[in-house]
Amino acid sequence: MTAKRPSAEDRIRELRTAIRHHDYLYHVKDAPEISDDAYDVLFRELKSLEAKHPELVTPDSPTQRVGGQVFDRFPSMEHAAPMLSLDSDKEASALRRFDERLRKALGNSISYVVEPKFDGASVEIVYEEGRLVRAATRGNGRVGEGITENVRTIRAVPLTLRSAERKAPAFLSVRGEVMISIAAFEKLNEQLLAGEREPFANPRNAAAGGLRQLDPRVSARRPLEVLVYDILAATPLDVATQSEALNALRQWGFPTTDMAVQTSDVDAILTYHEDLHARRDDLEYEIDGVVIKLDDLALRDEVGATSHHPRWAYAHKFPPRKEVTRVMTIFPSVGRTGVVTPVAMLRPVELGGVTVSRASLHNREEVARKDIREGDLVRVQRAGDVIPQVVERVAEPGRKRGKRFAMPSKCPSCGSKVLERGPFTVCPNSFECSSQLAGRLYHFGSREALEIEGLGEETAKRLVHEGLVHALADLFDLEVDAVMRLEGFANKSAENLVNAIKAASDTELARFLLGLGVPEVGVAVARDLAAYFKTINAVMAASVDELTQVPGVGSKMAEQIAGFFGNRRNRATIHDLLDGRVNIAPIEATDTQLLDGLTIVFTGGLERFSRRQAQELVQLHGARATSSVSKETDYVVEGTDAGSKADKARALGVSILSEEEFVAFLREKGIEP
Ligand code: IVH
Repeated sequence: MTAKRPSAEDRIRELRTAIRHHDYLYHVKDAPEISDDAYDVLFRELKSLEAKHPELVTPDSPTQRVGGQVFDRFPSMEHAAPMLSLDSDKEASALRRFDERLRKALGNSISYVVEPKFDGASVEIVYEEGRLVRAATRGNGRVGEGITENVRTIRAVPLTLRSAERKAPAFLSVRGEVMISIAAFEKLNEQLLAGEREPFANPRNAAAGGLRQLDPRVSARRPLEVLVYDILAATPLDVATQSEALNALRQWGFPTTDMAVQTSDVDAILTYHEDLHARRDDLEYEIDGVVIKLDDLALRDEVGATSHHPRWAYAHKFPPRKEVTRVMTIFPSVGRTGVVTPVAMLRPVELGGVTVSRASLHNREEVARKDIREGDLVRVQRAGDVIPQVVERVAEPGRKRGKRFAMPSKCPSCGSKVLERGPFTVCPNSFECSSQLAGRLYHFGSREALEIEGLGEETAKRLVHEGLVHALADLFDLEVDAVMRLEGFANKSAENLVNAIKAASDTELARFLLGLGVPEVGVAVARDLAAYFKTINAVMAASVDELTQVPGVGSKMAEQIAGFFGNRRNRATIHDLLDGRVNIAPIEATDTQLLDGLTIVFTGGLERFSRRQAQELVQLHGARATSSVSKETDYVVEGTDAGSKADKARALGVSILSEEEFVAFLREKGIEP
């Protein structure tokens, strides 16, 4: 034991307590006391201390949300108590009957708690001695799928229960809804579309899909949230009502809804329902009705449940956001990434309180599969605030239909010959097609890319449409006089914009890569590419095979990336940018690059670190961490249950290190793991 130990241990404890406290303030109280940056500083300090003292890492540390293990199936998990579903209807009369039934059984003095009905994926989360031990999907109500590792990645889910205001029970099973906010859902779909992948139909599918990932790192990248609304089982259970349960859940550290109300009056419930229905589109999360629950838990036991649903709860649903209308015309529309989307102009129709007059038909294959033509009668649907979708064609026997819709062979915006990429149609003229350029310009200057203050969506559009910017590089040649002539600009604001562009021209590789809008490349992948290749030239020269060596880059992604950099016009744009306009800071050699030039592959489970941590550690010291073994590999570190990679290493004669040997190797190089 070294002399430093006690202080590191104390500091680690202190940091964990602080981080948990700030998690609670952020996710439960909705009242953070420190900035995201200050939070990151605490988090990074904890991570680095834990990296230095792996023996002090505990599973409930805030750094241990994302493990490195990939599963091949979800284990079955029996619930602590049945997860029943709710009886529901959308007619007010059915709600009145529910109320009358209960009054008849229990007398007139009953009261209810009314909550929004969240439209996500229902989960059970179980705590023993205050620690999260397992989590499951609803499944058939009795047995669900074990998704513990995925639920752990949700930042709003406490890994340990708080006992500060109220002692947490020794055993606690809670039920809640895992969701993706409407805003995050729209962003996610934008990213999927940018990567030319199918968007999710609604936030519920996105959340449920995020939960059911065999690789928890994929779940961790989904912006999953949770709201907890029910105690499924607890020992001891010292709450008597639902109102008290919501309070207790909040005190134990769970996010709960702040929209629950208590009432004993059906008319008040109907007003609440109407009010939420009217505000549906302004809420953070998608909801599809309200849930009415008996407040008194003892009375719940008295009325019991049928085999499917409890008699003490009821869902009063909203009318569905689906309507039938007619397609007037179909036209192709070009987005920021060049994807040409067929859009249907509709006879305007009210959809859940909003008038809808256009809907996306997604791509060539979707139009063909649904066989939607001009003049057809169609069913349209809206989820959250997203662009409405055409669900299906409504048959009209005997009516003569129009011609099949065909995607154009040339870009409707710039006339370039379009490419077919899977089901998608793409304009390859990334930086010269004006429909793409405005969007790309805005993206280039966005916060996580070059961060050009004042280059908003509107300004980007004006710059392109007023002819000031014909190519991305023109941005850096803008002069104050020219900008001043744009609508909405004066001397000062034009000067500010030009200065902001100058200031942003010194940038980092990861930001530059992100800003280029390479298909599939988001913030995380841009960082991974930068860490791996170190220079823009190396990224541009990388083959598909080399790209798949980057941890986290799959073969489909690699093809898209290589395709982008292989495109002559894209390369010309990048060269123009680098020709005295943008300056990418060389990636700093950290420390003395103790592992410079080495290529290391990790396989199987490690004890001291997650695979990701080990990869980051060697990268920090100048090595490449790759995901597959080749004769260029210097070392393969073999953990438990290592599979084919270790076999391949043996076949190729690559040195294999056990975890212990790897740690010794690091120490030998002067790196304290
Ligand atoms: S109470 C047995 N409260 O709606 C009743 N459920 O169609 C326990 N849901 O799968 C559930 N919001 O996951 C309750 N505030 C809320 C809810 C809610 C959404 C879900 C629940 C269930 C579905 C029933």
